Amino acid sequence: MRITFLTLFPEMYDRFMSTSIIGRAHDNGLARIDTVQIRDFAHDRYHHVDDTPFGGGAGMVMKPQPVIDAICSVKDEGSHVILMDPSGSVYDQKKAHELTGYSHLIFLCGHYEGIDERVKAYVDESLSIGDYVLTGGELASMVIADSVIRLLDGAITADSAADESFEHGLLEYPQYTHPADYQGMKVPDILLSGHHEMIRRWRLQQALVKTREKRPDLFAGYVMNAEEEKLLSMWDEGIEVKVPEKK
Ligand code: ADE
Repeated sequence: MRITFLTLFPEMYDRFMSTSIIGRAHDNGLARIDTVQIRDFAHDRYHHVDDTPFGGGAGMVMKPQPVIDAICSVKDEGSHVILMDPSGSVYDQKKAHELTGYSHLIFLCGHYEGIDERVKAYVDESLSIGDYVLTGGELASMVIADSVIRLLDGAITADSAADESFEHGLLEYPQYTHPADYQGMKVPDILLSGHHEMIRRWRLQQALVKTREKRPDLFAGYVMNAEEEKLLSMWDEGIEVKVPEKK
């Protein structure tokens, strides 16, 4: 996959492109990541990319010409242009999977008060990463690119992606590692039992309880199967999945 960030601040992406899983995906060609400086497409003497809004109002607006020229300089047949925009549709894991289907993602990052509306004719969709306003689209574009790249085949092991939060409509169960007892805080016995089926049931019960408590909105849209209904009503009756007692 190709990923291109159109931005006024390409230096913000340096660490993103060279660190950890994303750095490896970039190095081994799984994701070819580039930045393009929008200012390079401004033709006036001072390379202005912004101007005052028609109709008045605070702040500056990014001009259509440099932005549209920047988009056209990288667009190709398989590209999908995404405008980072707090008023776009809210991004989620389902959208992350959908974006893996494109061969080239182009992220357009605004700054100042916004971008001239006519740029939207060159944009395929506008995405927001949540109901808050950042100083620019750069961090938001990295959030989206990160979550897409890690889904590409070979970026991480398939197992680690499969059990994660949101993949099946539930939050992920709690995880523990060594030591089994840290300052008196013990890892649940069941995880040390080696009893795979009971561990699976315990994890599922924990995921259900955690999702219902922390994300009632997600839980409301989740359709439980018979086993899940049973595990949750067991929890409500005070019965946690435990290691079977030896007879
Ligand atoms: N630009 C500024 N705020 C943003 C947000 N919440 N999501 C996407 N792009 C943005």
